[in-house]
Amino acid sequence: MTGIVVLGSTNMDLVAYVERAPARGETVTGRSFRTIPGGKGANQAVAAARAGGRVAMIGAVGSDDFGPRLRTVLEDCGVGTDLLRTVEGPSGTAHIVVDDEGGNAIVVVPGANAAVTSLGHGDEALIAAADLLLLQLELPLSVVTEGAVHARRRGVRTVLTPAPARQLPPELLDATDLLVPNEHEAAALTGRADPRAAALALLDSVPEVVVTLGAAGCLYAARGAEPLTVPAPRVRAVDTTAAGDTFAGALAVAVGEGRPMPEALAWAGTAAALSVRREGASTSMPYRTEIDTAFGAEADRAASAGS
Ligand code: RIB
Repeated sequence: MTGIVVLGSTNMDLVAYVERAPARGETVTGRSFRTIPGGKGANQAVAAARAGGRVAMIGAVGSDDFGPRLRTVLEDCGVGTDLLRTVEGPSGTAHIVVDDEGGNAIVVVPGANAAVTSLGHGDEALIAAADLLLLQLELPLSVVTEGAVHARRRGVRTVLTPAPARQLPPELLDATDLLVPNEHEAAALTGRADPRAAALALLDSVPEVVVTLGAAGCLYAARGAEPLTVPAPRVRAVDTTAAGDTFAGALAVAVGEGRPMPEALAWAGTAAALSVRREGASTSMPYRTEIDTAFGAEADRAASAGS
């Protein structure tokens, strides 16, 4: 089984479900409210573990009531948490509004995540022993960069989701093997709204790029090859929160299993499509059997459409 380490955030998601998100200065009445364990790092760890990966997480929870719940959701799906610190103060929180079309708007307050400023010897050893390191941008940029550089030196493959979007230091890009932005993040990084143009521009900095395109699937670009578009299964979206994290976690598993990239992307896209049919972040992520079943059904549908 692939050894995956996630260096990333944990947040308690405070989610209000509304018909439509309020405009500035406006108050709307919500339908319901849930607290759901999330955070881009923890989401990717849960997604990868449910997809069949052997996963451990480096990060932090707070000493508040949310901390134990955030830890438990990881442990319940077998994610190693020995290097998940508990720090004095509040856990990270994400304040999320989900509208009736499944779209969302999110404010993240880092809390304990901000305390993960550097790696210890244990963190370094864990990363060095992994096959693949998953990173996002909800921990301080300094430690994300440190983790990627350390992984690169030890020959560990690095996969970076550049979210929330911000400019990336050259050392981080130099240490990234596969960059997985969504189309907005790709545009923010390159100044190019067209995903294909953005992906090609990003190849100046990293060897491989996957731009996720929501319901339209994803676009894969690698140096020296023609870009490839991989469609996603059609589903009715209830909540798109963490679809990108589900994709990244499942992709890490498929890549680690040595599947050819087009197949790995389609399988990860199936996992992401399954996740948007359910509410929440960690609550929405599919298990491997569900992904395999839906992936097989999609392949059958494509075959009969082509025959
Ligand atoms: O990517 C989705 C995640 O972003 C949510 O779970 C929330 O915690 C925010 O970090």
